[in-house]
Amino acid sequence: MPTPKFFQGILLLLPLLVGCSMSEGFRRQGFKIIAHRGASKDAPENTLAALELGIRQGADGVEFDVYKTGDGWLALMHDKDVLRTTNFKDVFTDGRSAKVSELSLAELRSLDAGSWLSADYVGEKVPTFEEALEKLRGRATPVIEIKPEDIGQDVAMIVQKLAIEKEVFVQSFSPRAISDFHKVLPEVTTGYLTGSKVSDDSVERAREHLRIARESGASVVVCNYKLADREYIEEIHRNEFFVWVYTVDDAAVMRLLMERGIDGIITNVPSVLRDLSGRGK
Ligand code: G3P
Ligand code: CA
Repeated sequence: MPTPKFFQGILLLLPLLVGCSMSEGFRRQGFKIIAHRGASKDAPENTLAALELGIRQGADGVEFDVYKTGDGWLALMHDKDVLRTTNFKDVFTDGRSAKVSELSLAELRSLDAGSWLSADYVGEKVPTFEEALEKLRGRATPVIEIKPEDIGQDVAMIVQKLAIEKEVFVQSFSPRAISDFHKVLPEVTTGYLTGSKVSDDSVERAREHLRIARESGASVVVCNYKLADREYIEEIHRNEFFVWVYTVDDAAVMRLLMERGIDGIITNVPSVLRDLSGRGK
């Protein structure tokens, strides 16, 4: 089976691992544009419309967030509850909980997840995890963020069922979620998400992030962009890991991070990053 395009950066880093030098341009061939919650500036986050727009705006990978419903289904949502991104309050007036973990899939699917952003998206549904994976299959890499720390194995079993182990990237702020995922699918590439400053010393910070990433089995550190100065990025690379940042929408900041050698940027505006990285439309 050919190596999926999204993971070719791993091969491009091999010269570094054996001590050779590598030009910035060469490394940049492995640079990843990742749409955050889909192309979520222009379309409602974590919906199929946002995933589709992420692909159309040139993203290599499309990030989304996964929760588990009260009746055991995996579905896309960023917050613990559905209040910010659906019309829950108009639909359910009986005072029930708006937490994803306390709603059934049928209840979740009865909500409108688009109209809060724009009238253009009235009727957009909350997608199931499987629907999101099918939408992206063969088109862009699903960048799956596991939100609750106890659903790592549920996520892995769906990836296994759809036989897309070689096509997905999995990330979490929870080391437990990553290691649980790896108990089922150890071969899948994963990322440790962090916004923790740890130290004013960039190298110390990188080493602490690397320690946690290593322990959970991740090979990419995905950090808040404010933490990724040049020394930090160099230390991550020296340890044979990749480093991505979230969430950057400003072109000047994107350019600066690319100059520092960042391996991937997660953005709400993939089209801006696509144009900046010279890939055209
Ligand atoms: O992909 C990284 C980023 O999505 C993490 O933060 O809060 O948007 O899920 P958040
Ligand atoms: Ca996320």
